[in-house]
Amino acid sequence: MRVGVILTVVITAASLAGCSGPEAKFVLAKDTESLMKEARKPIEKVVTEHFGTPHKLVGWEKLPIDYGKADKAVPGHETAGWQLVEGRNLYMRHCLHCHGVSGDGNGPTAPYLNPRPRDYRRGEFKFTSTAVGVKARRDDIHLVLQNGIPGTSMPSFALLKANELTALVEYVRWLAMRGEFEKRLVAELSSDYSVKAVNDRRKNNEKLSDIIDAFNKLMTSTKEAPSEFSGTIKDVGDNLAADWLAAEDEANLIVPKHPRHLPSADPQSVSRGRALYMSEKLKCYTCHGLAARGDGTSTVDYWAIPGSSPEKKFEARGLHDNWGNPIKPRNLTLGQYRGGRRPIDLYRRIYAGIKGTQMAGFATALRDAKDEKGNALNDDQVAERMDRHIWDIVNYILAVPYQQQTIEPLLPMTAAATPAPAPAK
Ligand code: HEC
Ligand code: HEC
Repeated sequence: MRVGVILTVVITAASLAGCSGPEAKFVLAKDTESLMKEARKPIEKVVTEHFGTPHKLVGWEKLPIDYGKADKAVPGHETAGWQLVEGRNLYMRHCLHCHGVSGDGNGPTAPYLNPRPRDYRRGEFKFTSTAVGVKARRDDIHLVLQNGIPGTSMPSFALLKANELTALVEYVRWLAMRGEFEKRLVAELSSDYSVKAVNDRRKNNEKLSDIIDAFNKLMTSTKEAPSEFSGTIKDVGDNLAADWLAAEDEANLIVPKHPRHLPSADPQSVSRGRALYMSEKLKCYTCHGLAARGDGTSTVDYWAIPGSSPEKKFEARGLHDNWGNPIKPRNLTLGQYRGGRRPIDLYRRIYAGIKGTQMAGFATALRDAKDEKGNALNDDQVAERMDRHIWDIVNYILAVPYQQQTIEPLLPMTAAATPAPAPAK
């Protein structure tokens, strides 16, 4: 295994945002705590080896992070990686009190906030310009820093300098990769070595000493061969790097092939958008409500915890995000959008959904295979129709705050269930 450490920086505790309290530390994730204690240690060791501590950062060259070059060294930090150090310093000053030292969304201010600050360690961000299943681009995080997240406590940092924002974006990405590296390593071990798995194995008459022996074997390198776990570390690192690189790939950026075709005021486009909103195919109303006030029936249902097996439901009614926090569908009559209010931002929200939430993307549902007369469509026609549908929905969303009067007396749901066909142009 090649651990390329391009950066090791030692700084004094006092220079960390002038904090004079207890020394800043990266904390272990909850998942890690669920492993048997013999397995926790190696996880902590490996993560520290590849990422260091807040006071002694390590830049793992495998990761697609722009650490900064040695020729622009910050005085006192002549080694490579000035940008990561700069990012850390800015983060400690501006972000730590909400997002926490480890980027776990658990800073000292966090318990008082709703919504909670993002925990970056899932490697997942909500408002992205990338396809379903693809991570956030640098540009997405940059946009969030530029605009803040309206309607939440996440402030805008537009007053920082361009190079400061760049350093912050890299540091946030680095914290996200750090957290995800830990999470993925734990996932590799938990089916055999979580406290629960070990208890189950013992119930099946496996001896604890045998389980620990097997674990130690997994961790042990010999002269002839590196340990099985070092292979796991390499694979996890490779996959993680590839996933973050893919997010920067232009092929994964959502770009409409066809421009927004009509001004938002066009009543026909708005009413087609409304019909799609009410359609059985998209079912926006089940979450956002008949009058788009964010109060659909889904907000009182009990929802399954994602990834739970056997399936478990959240204790509280209503939607929850992948972090387990309760979320509400947006009240669209207010005209406030967290992921940006440009038409292209809304296009992307409809296309790929809001990542880490139950609002999944609708691009697939909006691809018609046939036209109204039943003729098969070619790829270009499918793409054009999908764009037209999405822009109709965007036009509807943008009209909602001004359309109270026309929305109140609703069409009967059955009549609205089939979207009106778009006129041929
Ligand atoms: C006062 C508290 C607060 C501060 C300070 C703060 N944030 Fe946030 N941040 C939040 C909250 C709350 C959210 C989640 C909002 C939501 O879920 O819609 C958030 C979300 C985010 C997200 C996630 C965006 C997404 O698409 O999922 C990023 C990235 C982020 N913040 C970065 C930063 C950075 C970098 C700083 C410092 C420069 C910072 N934040 C400072 C409260 C804060
Ligand atoms: C399963 C429930 C669900 C469905 C179905 C759903 N949404 Fe959402 N929607 C949500 C939730 C939850 C949020 C807020 C997520 C968050 O910020 O954490 C949201 C947010 C939004 C936003 C705000 C985006 C922003 O940047 O703030 C818009 C616009 C939106 N939805 C439109 C739609 C449209 C149009 C449809 C149908 C094509 C739809 N939604 C279907 C649950 C849903």
